[in-house]
Amino acid sequence: MLNFKYYSPTSIIFGKNSVENLGAQIASDVKTVLFHFGGGSIKRSGLYDQVVGILKEKKVKIVELGGVEPNPKLSLVREGIALCRQHQVDLILAVGGGSVIDSAKAIGVGVNYEGDVWDFFMGKAKPESCVPLGVILTIPATGSETSPNSVVTKEEGLMKRGLKSDLIRPAFAILNPELTLTLPEEQTFAGIMDILSHVFERYFTTTTPVDVTDLMCEGVMKATIENAYKLRKNPDDYDARAEIMLAGTVAHNGILGVGRLEDWASHRIAHEITALYGTTHGVTLSIIFPAWMKYVSAERPEKFVQFAQRVFGVSQEAFADPAEIANEGIRRFEAFLTDMGLPKSFKEADLPEDQLDLMTDKATLFGALGGYRKLEAADIKAIYKMAL
Ligand code: NZQ
Ligand code: ZN
Repeated sequence: MLNFKYYSPTSIIFGKNSVENLGAQIASDVKTVLFHFGGGSIKRSGLYDQVVGILKEKKVKIVELGGVEPNPKLSLVREGIALCRQHQVDLILAVGGGSVIDSAKAIGVGVNYEGDVWDFFMGKAKPESCVPLGVILTIPATGSETSPNSVVTKEEGLMKRGLKSDLIRPAFAILNPELTLTLPEEQTFAGIMDILSHVFERYFTTTTPVDVTDLMCEGVMKATIENAYKLRKNPDDYDARAEIMLAGTVAHNGILGVGRLEDWASHRIAHEITALYGTTHGVTLSIIFPAWMKYVSAERPEKFVQFAQRVFGVSQEAFADPAEIANEGIRRFEAFLTDMGLPKSFKEADLPEDQLDLMTDKATLFGALGGYRKLEAADIKAIYKMAL
């Protein structure tokens, strides 16, 4: 196990009716709140009215900024920064999914920065402060409710880039699984794929031994898969919604990655699909992960053998060698994706296949990717090709 420091300051308030706790989470010295949300789902569900009611009761000034699109855009972040400066906002409340939360985080770090907030996403500067953030989560997927990450798209050049800083971990996150009952089917299962992928990015490591985190990862993967099947049968299953919501947070609050080298190549490779075509994040991962798994396991099957045996119950006896066990695990993972209605290729997702060079160039802008196996541009192009 590698040495590590772990910091996770977010208060999590979880369960039915948990939004009622919002008022108690807002410190008494907060005077002005930027209420940040997406395209309308919170108005349809009644959550918008509930939040406004609670903020009014707290007698805070509300500055509204809705309209965050999936895969949030830099232009709205800039608008948010200007609003925060104008109204001296002292809390940003993000109500929605990863896109709203990430937009709020980017606004938060931009307010007291004299340069261009995009500098943080290009690695040109490091955030030194962030306006305090609160979250009400409406879709379990990205883990952004407790993560130190924000992913934003710059419209010019279609650049989708991430920023990482402990300063942007929210102060509190309210998680009510009931709020997820209104999710469209595609978002539910794309979210589940994203959750699994956050475990994969940590699970597939060259660090050994890492028994505790391996077993934690495997537990989260198994529970996520089991409850995904329950939601496929019955989307109104509250208990399954609750398990998935908790899995989403645990998968990306960093605890599963402590003491081990992480990977993250697949996320970078997948982001380029969203950047060009606006494809839902979890869908791009379901396209890329099977190809990535096949590509890297051909050279390093070890961890894939463990994955096959412990997560998908592949028995050693039935197969002649480790490579076959590894392949069977990947095959069962692909079968899971099919069962969840998720595409496993560009073709199944109905995406154009003619921009692989551009995507490869953008994905490798800062050099090689990956931890489990280092991937150069030629490897990444090969993975895109395998995903066609
Ligand atoms: O905009 P509204 O109307 O709210 O609709 C949203 C949106 O269309 C809808 N939705 C959300 N909750 C709903 C709902 N519809 C009905 N009922 C509800 N309860 O779902 C759509 C997708 O929302 P979005 O916030 O985009 O989804 P998600 O949470 O998957 O976020 C995706 C973004 O997060 C980034 C992704 O790259 C992508 O940009 N990620 C952020 C990470 C982080 N900050 O740590 C890590 C991830 O790996 C990921 O990269
Ligand atoms: Zn993700």
